[in-house]
Parts: sequence; C-alpha cells; structure tokens
Amino acid sequence: MKTTFYEPDKLSTFLASKKTLLAKGAIAQAGPEAKKLGAKKVMVVTDAGVMKAGLADTVRDSLSAAGLEVGVFDGILPEPPARVIDQCAEVFRKGGYDLCLGLGGGSSLDSAKIVSNLAANPGSVLEYVGMDMLPKKGTPLMLVPTTAGTGSEATRVMVLTDESDNTKKVVFSDYLLPDVSILDPELTLSVPPSVTADTGLDALVHAIETHVSVNATPYSDILSLQAIAMIARHLPQAYAKGGNLLPRYNMLLAANLSGSAFASGGLGAVHGLAYVLGTEYHMAHGRSNAIMLPHVMAFNLSGNLEKFAGIAEAMGEDITGLSPYEAAALSVEAVYSLMEAVNLSARLTDYGVSRDDLPKLVKGGMAQARLFVPNPRDLTEADVEQIYSSAF
Ligand SMILES: [Fe+2]
Repeated sequence: MKTTFYEPDKLSTFLASKKTLLAKGAIAQAGPEAKKLGAKKVMVVTDAGVMKAGLADTVRDSLSAAGLEVGVFDGILPEPPARVIDQCAEVFRKGGYDLCLGLGGGSSLDSAKIVSNLAANPGSVLEYVGMDMLPKKGTPLMLVPTTAGTGSEATRVMVLTDESDNTKKVVFSDYLLPDVSILDPELTLSVPPSVTADTGLDALVHAIETHVSVNATPYSDILSLQAIAMIARHLPQAYAKGGNLLPRYNMLLAANLSGSAFASGGLGAVHGLAYVLGTEYHMAHGRSNAIMLPHVMAFNLSGNLEKFAGIAEAMGEDITGLSPYEAAALSVEAVYSLMEAVNLSARLTDYGVSRDDLPKLVKGGMAQARLFVPNPRDLTEADVEQIYSSAF
C-alpha cells in the first residue's frame, strides 16, 4: 500500500460504538453486557421478519438468563415512518424500560438509536431532526445487526420517513452512538442471497464513497480501503453459500468498518442519485445504490485518480505498469465484476425504469445536491442527466 500524506491542520473525527463484540455466538454476551450497563428491563426493537426468523428469541434468552426483564417491539417498518418510531418510544417510556436494544437491519437499528434517546426527550422524533438537536442523552443503547450492510451500529445518524410530505429526514447526534454493538455472524446466516447482495453493495458504496470523499480522514481512508478489499473478497461467497460462517463473519466486519468510515468521512453522489430510485420505484436502499455505483464512479474518476487506483488494487486488480487513468478505470471494471458475481445489473431498464422517466430522475437527483458537496467531482444538472443516461 502507498504511503498517504495527510493534512495536519485538518480536523479529523473518529466515531464508533463505545464497545464492539465480534464472534460467532457473541450474542450470548447481550445479557451480561446489558447488566454491566445497569439495566433491569430491556426493550428489543425489531421487525416482524427478524421475529419470524427466531432471532429475537436468541436475544431474549441471553437477556433473561442474566435475570433481566425483557419486552419486544416488533413493529418497525422499512424506511421507518415517524409515526411508528413515536409509537415505539411511547411503549418504551410507559413500560419503564432502562435499556434499548436494536436488532435487525438499518431500520430497526436506526429506530432503536432514537427511541433510547426519546426516553429522556419529550415529544415526537420530528422535533429532533437536524444536527445535534437532542438536548439530553437517553438510556443506554445496544445494537445487534442481522444484515451486513448499513453499518448503522457505527454511526451518529438515523433516517426516518416524514409521512406528512413523504420525505426522508435525518437526525444527527453523538447520542445515537451505541454503548455496545454485538456482531454475531450466526445471526446473518439466514439472510437470502438477493438481500445479501443488496446489503453487501450498500456497504461497498459506503466504503468507496467515503474513500474518495473530499471529507476523507486518515481514519476513514484506512478503514474504507480495508473494507473494500474484504467485500470484494468475501461478498461473492456470502452470496453463493450463505450458510458459510467465514464469509458472513468477514462481511459483518467489513460493513461495520464501512459504517465507521462513513461516519467520519461522509457519503457522496451515489447516495444522492440513488435516493430517487428508492422513493419513486420502491427499490431497496442497497439495490438503488448498487445500480448507480459504477456510473457515478466512471464520472468521478478524474476527481481522484490515485484513490480510484487504490480501490482497483484493493479489489484485486493488477495495476502494475498502468497509467494513473488506466489504473483508476480498473476500479469500475472491478465493481462490474463483483456485481455480476452477485447477479446484480447496473442497468435501470432491468428494473422497469423507463427512459421516459429521465426528467423525473434528474429532478429527484438534483433535489439531493447536498450530497454532491463531498463528492470528488462537481456535478451540474447536465452531468446528472448524463450519469442517469449512462445507466440505461
Ligand atoms: Fe447506504
């Protein structure tokens, strides 16, 4: 790996869970860890799918064995609406719970992050949208991901849907970082191949966007490059042979590293241009990001040839003897190869998006222009149109 020269006068922040446990069977530590945090009554925040897979029972067993009272709220919905979060918070407040444990994908973890804090802050989650709007820290918080993708357990953000105008809103606060995260790859063994692919690509997008971001830090550089290498190496096998523990373990770790990287380094135009695919065509978050990834990368190359060459190398491409541009361009090829290995197309027409929808896509993409700021190359409306066009 090349030596990188950092800027000593630029402020870098490193964010992560206060404590992270990683191992097959680590979920057995949920009870002892909750006890160490002083808990007596724990609420598990999750969704119906996780409940059905029996994963909430595994967590409940560990908590009960430690002598803790346990309740379960399993009503979390994808892109959680404020209404559901408020309802969950009401159950939490009234039930006298003193620890919130999020179990599931990004929606359940994000919900638990804010619910633990709504215990100490009155009213609706909508009152705390924005930067550092939570005046008080709530109860202790534990997070247990059951997919390898969002890295939500390592970030200080949560995303919700405001149904009044059907937009996404974001809460940023240091209080959203958990006291304990438990990464147990056994909990991810039953994730179906298509979800493994979507969530794995989401983690890859986090790592790549952060790596080339103008807000990259020494921490995000180190973590994201390692995560990219691990995802390229292990995602195909996690997809092909979901019951194998080793690729699941590596993907869970890679998603966590990516989360920690983007928590300090920030995202970019892939997330910006993917957003409208989620709202207009109801595509899963990871899927919409995967589709846009190679197209945005191809556009971005000139913004940071060296970093893109590093990504190509991390993904196993041989860049010796190549010009900087050739080496950087190989990163796009590597992403296409990985997507092919997990059966994901980067063509919008393969997902029923019509060419006639181009103006709608451009409008939706431009509405997320705040995510263009950390992008390594500036985007005009014409650029946005060209990127979407290349995705047809
Ligand atoms: Fe994402």
